Amino acid sequence: MSAEALSRPFKRLADYLPPAFSIESTDLTFELDPVNTVVTAELQIRRLDSKVVELCLQGQQLELLSVQYKGHLLSADDYQLDDKSLRLTVQDDRFSLVIKTRLQPQANTALEGLYYANNTFCTQCEAEGFQRITYYLDRPDVLSLFSSSLIADPQQYPFLLSNGNKVEQRELTDGRRLVRWQDPFPKPCYLFALVAGDFDTLSSEYQTASGRTVQLEFYVEKGQGSKASFALESLKRAMRWDEERFGLEYDLERYMVVAVDFFNMGAMENKGLNVFNSKYVLVSEASATDKDFFNVESIIGHEYFHNWTGNRVTCRDWFQLSLKEGLTVFRDQEFSRDMGSATVNRIDAVQVIRTAQFAEDASPMAHPIRPEQVMEMNNFYTVTVYDKGAEVIRMLHTLLGEAGFQAGMRLYFQRHDGQAVTCDDFVQAMQDANQQDLTAFRRWYQQSGTPVLSVKRSYDADRRQLTLTLQQKTPPTADQAQKQPLVLPIRYQLLGSKRSSSELFVMTSAQASLTFDNVEATALPVVLEDFSAPVRLQHDYSDAELLRIATEASNGFARWDALQSCWLGWLQQAVAKGESYELPEGLFDFYQQLLHQPLTDLALTAELLKVPDYAVFAENFSPIPVDAILDAITDFRRQLSQRLAGAWLHCYQQQRQTTPDYHETNVGQRALKNRCLEFLALLPECNKTVLEQQYRNANTMTDQLAALKAAQQGGYPGFHTLMEDFGKAWQHDVLVLDKWFGLHASNPDPAVFAQIEALCQHDKFSWQNPNRVRAVFHAFTMLNPGQFHRLDGRGYALLTDTVIQLDGINPQVAARLVTPLLSWKRFDTERQSLLRAALERLADRAGISDDVFEKVSKALA
Ligand code: PHE
Ligand code: ZN
Repeated sequence: MSAEALSRPFKRLADYLPPAFSIESTDLTFELDPVNTVVTAELQIRRLDSKVVELCLQGQQLELLSVQYKGHLLSADDYQLDDKSLRLTVQDDRFSLVIKTRLQPQANTALEGLYYANNTFCTQCEAEGFQRITYYLDRPDVLSLFSSSLIADPQQYPFLLSNGNKVEQRELTDGRRLVRWQDPFPKPCYLFALVAGDFDTLSSEYQTASGRTVQLEFYVEKGQGSKASFALESLKRAMRWDEERFGLEYDLERYMVVAVDFFNMGAMENKGLNVFNSKYVLVSEASATDKDFFNVESIIGHEYFHNWTGNRVTCRDWFQLSLKEGLTVFRDQEFSRDMGSATVNRIDAVQVIRTAQFAEDASPMAHPIRPEQVMEMNNFYTVTVYDKGAEVIRMLHTLLGEAGFQAGMRLYFQRHDGQAVTCDDFVQAMQDANQQDLTAFRRWYQQSGTPVLSVKRSYDADRRQLTLTLQQKTPPTADQAQKQPLVLPIRYQLLGSKRSSSELFVMTSAQASLTFDNVEATALPVVLEDFSAPVRLQHDYSDAELLRIATEASNGFARWDALQSCWLGWLQQAVAKGESYELPEGLFDFYQQLLHQPLTDLALTAELLKVPDYAVFAENFSPIPVDAILDAITDFRRQLSQRLAGAWLHCYQQQRQTTPDYHETNVGQRALKNRCLEFLALLPECNKTVLEQQYRNANTMTDQLAALKAAQQGGYPGFHTLMEDFGKAWQHDVLVLDKWFGLHASNPDPAVFAQIEALCQHDKFSWQNPNRVRAVFHAFTMLNPGQFHRLDGRGYALLTDTVIQLDGINPQVAARLVTPLLSWKRFDTERQSLLRAALERLADRAGISDDVFEKVSKALA
């Protein structure tokens, strides 16, 4: 392994050099055919640095047919070709290159570059997929004017789409059709896209604030047209929202969204032509859950918002990915918050940070939001770059306020529209627009790891003075030993005092203190409202104090968060004792109250009534006591269901009737009802009637799926019959089948291994389809900790075999799946040796992809 490791290089931010050539225009012609597509790329190139004589274009998986330099055909001696590049010596400052390449889209199972699946041609160029289409300067700081001609059989592929404006369409003498597109905005090649196929279409118009009309067009699989209307309406809401909140308007005459079932990620913001994973476009009340509707709206928003934060201003290099992703996630979170329950939105975002992102910081893959070295860029589309990146933007927003932040945004666009820039350029615009020194704040971009913020209280009764002592410390991470103090905006409230409103304290050093004069001994500080900084909070609050915050705090997030602290404390006690821990009376009283008198925000009520998941608890331990956590969770749920049996039923019945549409009140009602159902299902006497009735009478997928999940969790004997029924009823809808696959794979019984084997034989399962693979294996590794972490190693072996099989098909998806194996050092010695063996098996495999190799070798280092 070590010899191989040496031969696989990292790219480093420190090595960045500006491009020596620019590509002024890029004209592409595609003669589309599943097994033999010919691409002609006509490039107008200008030399920027006259000392440079070698032009090195990247290219992978290409068959080079010909190269013309200034109209002259080159012979093989005129250039150097290897499996990663095409190099030629150039004497001119301006010249044209015409490069012909041949591709086999159907054989492209990596789904990067141009691929063919489900009778559709589709491209995916971010991050470095364009070099699988033609030889090019495949880097985001090379901006070019693109035009493209797509040629294909119009019977099979009636729609031929690409970026920008459609400027020509004609039938060729051989019966093929040619459609030509021109994008007026210069762009890096990662934003290029083409799609060719047959679709149902859904279209509409949008009037921008300045009065222009934009055509909105959705292209989805035949027969699915009606399921795109929610996405279309979401797009209009996103466009309006961005005008109102950020003053940003759309800039082309046409905005197209294509939904495909074969896609590596969620969606892609190609200029004027977004390509979406169909699961983030196609929803109906019968087939999609409220969570699915939420995701559609937020991802539609996300891709739309990229048009300004990502496309009009893009990244200088891929180390700056958070420039567009952190900022755009922040924007989509703000949009979602305005569309639904603001508090629950914040809770969900924080859960992502506390579970996945904190885990990443504690793993061998730890990196700052602006990474400094990368082997395979696809491995850095991470929760750190995206979600922690968004938290960093959110902190800037907290520090500068809405007006200051918007002033910074305006300056950012004024300076950088049409450019490829860095995270530093963004912070500089914020700094200059606000005349605030953000030097220390910039550490957030270079430092990885999760700061621990500890809060100690002392009360001086004579002076009636309360002092808070704050300390921050970031433990070392796999990539960085030394850490510096960070700028932490801390929002707080003092309960039981006159100063009851929320205030901001900005901590800039390792230690700080805050004093409150003239307060009662009972005054209680609520720290880190709305999770105003992405830190782990340590405090010494008692259960009674936390429950007081949970009932009295004005900040909804803080109420929920106080309860989270309680749960963690109780779980730690249960784990330490190694036996049942009796939940305190205060909790039962609080829950009883909530169940009889829910808060106005029903979705928040449902969140408050939840026992945290395994992943939330696990993140707080090292080593992680897998079995003890699972036992304690089961025991907590049992105690709650039994002690509050009547109250769960009462509340369930109160909320039973819901209108199917996706609207905030209905969503909240369903969330609360289904929380109650989860606990009712643990009571043997309630099982049959309640579960069966809800399953049979459900008027939404949310309710039907909740009944199935509750039946599974509650060990309901009729569960398998319901699953069979569900599987038959939804044969025709792969997106629903994915839910069914996932439920099977999260079965906490050893029978799950045989079930997974059977699922992989299912005629709708395909190793080529990332959605199918993830449905099964994401559920198995993330939602089935008991079986995945079995002490006989069977779970780890299954995942390892799967990663190996998948790596030959789609390395990106394989590398995402491998993540749960990486954190081997966080388990007990038995599991450690099993996990290590699994990692070694992967590292030793000949021909393992860079994607998997980068992660595995870091884990073993
Ligand atoms: N840029 C996409 C987004 O965040 C994500 C993506 C990355 C999609 C790489 C495909 C490939 O919206
Ligand atoms: Zn994005």
